[in-house]
Amino acid sequence: MPVDVASFFHAATSTWTHVAGDAATGAAAVVDPVLDFDPVAGRIGTGPAQAVLDHLRAHGLDLRWILETHAHADHLTAAAWLRARTGAPVAVGAGIVEVQAGFKQRLGLGGEFVADGSHFDRLLRDGDTLPLGGSTIEVLATPGHTADSMSYRVGDAVFIGDTLFSPAAGSARCDFPGGSAAALHASVRRLYALPDDTQLYLCHDYPPAGAAPRDRVPLREQREHNVHLAAGTGAADFVALRERRDATLAVPRLFWPALQVNIRAGELPPADDEGRRFLKLPLDADALAAKP
Ligand SMILES: [Fe+2]
Repeated sequence: MPVDVASFFHAATSTWTHVAGDAATGAAAVVDPVLDFDPVAGRIGTGPAQAVLDHLRAHGLDLRWILETHAHADHLTAAAWLRARTGAPVAVGAGIVEVQAGFKQRLGLGGEFVADGSHFDRLLRDGDTLPLGGSTIEVLATPGHTADSMSYRVGDAVFIGDTLFSPAAGSARCDFPGGSAAALHASVRRLYALPDDTQLYLCHDYPPAGAAPRDRVPLREQREHNVHLAAGTGAADFVALRERRDATLAVPRLFWPALQVNIRAGELPPADDEGRRFLKLPLDADALAAKP
């Protein structure tokens, strides 16, 4: 069944949000919605999510699913904001429970935070299918960047999260807790086995100055030209390259705020007695590397 995809680029975090609409019925899924966040002012903005909501309404689309490809470390998800306005369920890979447990420990979250996945409405496993009007969303486990990473396939479109970037930018880092370059290699091999006419929709693009960001890359182009992981790249070579590169990367700017909000599906931490909400910042330089 034909599926229409509209994509929205959040320039502040170089993130793509995709809306997949089943053309025949108007059923839609949103993949990786984004909030604005200014970490200096502590200010959250809903502009990017409102743009997605306006698109849904303008096109008469009925939102059935809000899909997270993983617990992002570079932006705050708008999943809960969108759920509150549409009633659509938020789905994520079942590996989120492990991610929640790890960050509960690292952030010293108290008893109010239960790491059981219940902040999300549906925990997905490899091979699950979700109805989308006359179409079906197929869930593919694609771990490596994180343990909970999922890709979502509908028609000839696959929303691949942070597995591959554009061919010139290569692949996503694998050094966050639960990450594994070997697992990412296997996940990409799996994506490369999909039909030749598949389009891979990116979660991020980092174009060179002056160039427009790309929202999708044909599967054939990735297989032939991805600078980190092309069809012929062996696992050992990829793991060595990925680990060498990861050793040079800094902690992302919004890492701690993003994880705190994203493990709650985009809900903010509970308010104190005066209705104020706060984010935490561990002052332990090893907090990220620590294995709880
Ligand atoms: Fe990510």
